[in-house]
Amino acid sequence: RPRVLSGIQPTADSFHLGNYLGAVRQWVTLQETHDAFYCVVDLHAITVPTDPADLRRRSRVAAAQLFACGLDPSASTVFVQSHVREHTELAWILNCITGMGEAARMTQFKDKSAKYGESSASVGLFTYPILQAADILLYQANRVPVGADQKQHLELTRDLAQRFNHRLGDTFTLPEPYILKEVEKITDLQDPTAKMSKSSSSPAGILDVLEQPGPLRKKVMRAVTDTGSEVLFDEEGKPGVSNLLRIQSALTGTPIPELVERYVGAGYGTFKKDVAEVVVSTFEPIRERTEKLLADEAELDRLLAAGAAKARAVAQETMTQVRDRVGFLPGV
Ligand code: TYM
Repeated sequence: RPRVLSGIQPTADSFHLGNYLGAVRQWVTLQETHDAFYCVVDLHAITVPTDPADLRRRSRVAAAQLFACGLDPSASTVFVQSHVREHTELAWILNCITGMGEAARMTQFKDKSAKYGESSASVGLFTYPILQAADILLYQANRVPVGADQKQHLELTRDLAQRFNHRLGDTFTLPEPYILKEVEKITDLQDPTAKMSKSSSSPAGILDVLEQPGPLRKKVMRAVTDTGSEVLFDEEGKPGVSNLLRIQSALTGTPIPELVERYVGAGYGTFKKDVAEVVVSTFEPIRERTEKLLADEAELDRLLAAGAAKARAVAQETMTQVRDRVGFLPGV
């Protein structure tokens, strides 16, 4: 079976619709056909100032949501990144074959560091994509299901793998991004040209998976729509309506042209009401299952420990070879 790996940051108290449609939903599908590894990337989360109690809570909430979204612990290896020490070890080695200029070209660093000022942003934020490359290469992943914003990091990952293989001998599998065009960039409900984002969207622009039905409905009804009153798919002219159509289509499985036909003459209000209902009915069971999983912390921690043990076995195998290739002496 081909192998798949992906990760999600525990940087908020809930995933949002962009995380769900752009990534996690594909993780669930891919576990059927792939040897699947999914991690909660807490090492990535601390690249920006993070309160320890928040991190602890959010890591558990993230893991619980992954199971609640449909990851099956007997089909997927779900684990917390910091539990597998090999991630940081490989990241260091990859740091040493990454050029400063190459790292400096990463646009996510430019966006995120702008918030803190480039000189007070952490070095960890700068080398963030290299740790991500380590996550992927450690598991020899063939495919990496992500949203469009991760494309550049995947290109870097492939470059580093090729460089290492070329200099020191074939070691790493070259990973392919797995990105579904229709959902690769879900946009902010209040600013439909920007991506829906934990760090930069306003609360009104984000639909959180764990949010109550009331606020979810309100946010969809207040989503920025465009001039005119026709429900049409036109990314340039009607980015707000197009985003809602993309969401409704992805959540119902109905092709966009069919939806457009359904709303001829209906107006934005009717359309938005339907979008709100499908969002609520998708999220409600996930929220309920997440709450149940969080109520038994010991069991959740046990699942994560089992995931870490499976992940570690694979990571250690890769690292034994990597250490030898680099020229480190065998340990005792
Ligand atoms: P993170 O935690 O920001 O987001 C998790 C996943 O959600 C996708 N995503 C979106 N997709 C569509 N529309 C959106 N508005 C949207 N917002 C977020 C992201 O593309 C991502 O797939 N660097 C990664 C985490 C990571 C990782 C890895 C991913 C660490 N190591 C190894 C893959 C493989 C990140 O920040 O994701």
